[in-house]
Amino acid sequence: MRSSTRLLALAAFAALLGFPSRVSAAGKWFDNLFVIIMENTDLSTATGLSYMGKLTKRPDARLYTNYQCVARPSQPNYIGMVYGSTFGVTDDNYVDVTGANLFDLLEAKGISWKLYAENWPGDCSDKETTGIYAYARKHNPAIIMNSVRTNATRCAKIVHADQLAADLASPATFPSVAFYIPNQWNDGHNFGIGVGDIWMSSFIPKTLPSLPASTLTLITFDEPGKNSADTTPIYTLAIGAKVKAGTDAAAYNHYSFLKTVEENWALGNVGRGDVTAVPLAGLA
Ligand SMILES: *[C@@H]1O[C@H](CO)[C@@H](O)[C@H](O)[C@H]1NC(C)=O
Repeated sequence: MRSSTRLLALAAFAALLGFPSRVSAAGKWFDNLFVIIMENTDLSTATGLSYMGKLTKRPDARLYTNYQCVARPSQPNYIGMVYGSTFGVTDDNYVDVTGANLFDLLEAKGISWKLYAENWPGDCSDKETTGIYAYARKHNPAIIMNSVRTNATRCAKIVHADQLAADLASPATFPSVAFYIPNQWNDGHNFGIGVGDIWMSSFIPKTLPSLPASTLTLITFDEPGKNSADTTPIYTLAIGAKVKAGTDAAAYNHYSFLKTVEENWALGNVGRGDVTAVPLAGLA
């Protein structure tokens, strides 16, 4: 067989066996990104938890031990991760952010993205939900961006987290960049991070094996603790086949997250804190 014929035959055989053939955009360090954002916990508390502590010991995990939030309270950190500044936001009140952001850069380059939100009300909703499993708008960096919220095509990329399993099971529906926003029970916000650790101990083992092999999984937190003025780092853990295992004590913050995504796919920048930020090291 000619090599092209052989490749086709192999692909058909793989499809028969049920291996999904996903469309991923090749990046400098990773081809897919899966980022989970947890709430209100400092590094030492998180590493002291039974499951999150155990995760740091994986042979494919790198723990950043000097990764800082960029503001208090929650919302400006979520904004900062995709916007490169806090937009002057100093509270969790409703805000719409104008100006270039990560989603614009991804759209311009044709890099697919989705935001999976637990308890998402759907249909580009601008509302929160209530109850112990509440979805919080302030924790959804996509809906806060005007260029996403006011564009139906883009806004439809915010989906209910229940869709993740189906997306992972069918080719080409899992995006290059996936944000995962747990509800306020699972993210540790409402009932403490012990609850979040229990959630993670079931979510990670059932989800990570289904991600494309070239995925960088990043677990981070918005800020160390509620309303604290200290500068304690937050737990930020990279997991991936190419990740250099161990700890990394260099100084990073949420703008480093943005810089990492920008540099991975040569997206350019949004002209704010991302320009001079240092990308996360040791990813490949
Ligand atoms: C909405 O977003 C899509 C996808 O990025 C883009 O093609 C389209 O031009 C946008 N529409 C407007 C009115 O900005």
